[in-house]
Amino acid sequence: MKRTLIALTVLLFSAHAAEGATTAAEGKAIFERSCSVCHSVNPPPKSAPPIMPIAAVYHRQFPDKAEGVKHMAAFMKSPAKDKSKVDPEAISRFGLMPPMALGDAELNAVAGWVWDQYNLNSGKGMGMGQQNENCR
Ligand code: HEC
Repeated sequence: MKRTLIALTVLLFSAHAAEGATTAAEGKAIFERSCSVCHSVNPPPKSAPPIMPIAAVYHRQFPDKAEGVKHMAAFMKSPAKDKSKVDPEAISRFGLMPPMALGDAELNAVAGWVWDQYNLNSGKGMGMGQQNENCR
């Protein structure tokens, strides 16, 4: 009985921790696990466009993080040409991204992390010359 209680406490605690875990650290971990096989963060590309220029495009196309993350998460769930925000050349060069078998919380966490890459790295002299553009 005592054991069960302890196990339950541990379980409840981790469930609670997971709830608030849509953090940057989690987004980065998901990226490394599920995305980095195709996406590098900065050029040169692997088998997909690097994350920095993608994040820059999303910052230009969406008024705020919430909108950008929403679209990105929906795209990753079921990628489609007409939903794509990147240069159409990316799709002809690399093909369409395959759908991600991730839950909504994970998709949102990793999309938030992708979005933040543009802000965090801009001005550090990395990327594709888009650093001077003011982020909206
Ligand atoms: C099997 C390779 C592969 C994996 C794994 C992959 N991607 Fe992609 N991704 C691509 C390719 C190829 C494109 C470019 C064509 C396109 O936009 O569909 C792309 C495009 C994107 C885009 C731009 C979407 C748009 O508007 O066109 C985002 C954002 C993105 N990936 C994020 C991610 C994230 C985050 C993960 C991990 C959860 C991930 N990708 C995993 C191959 C991959």
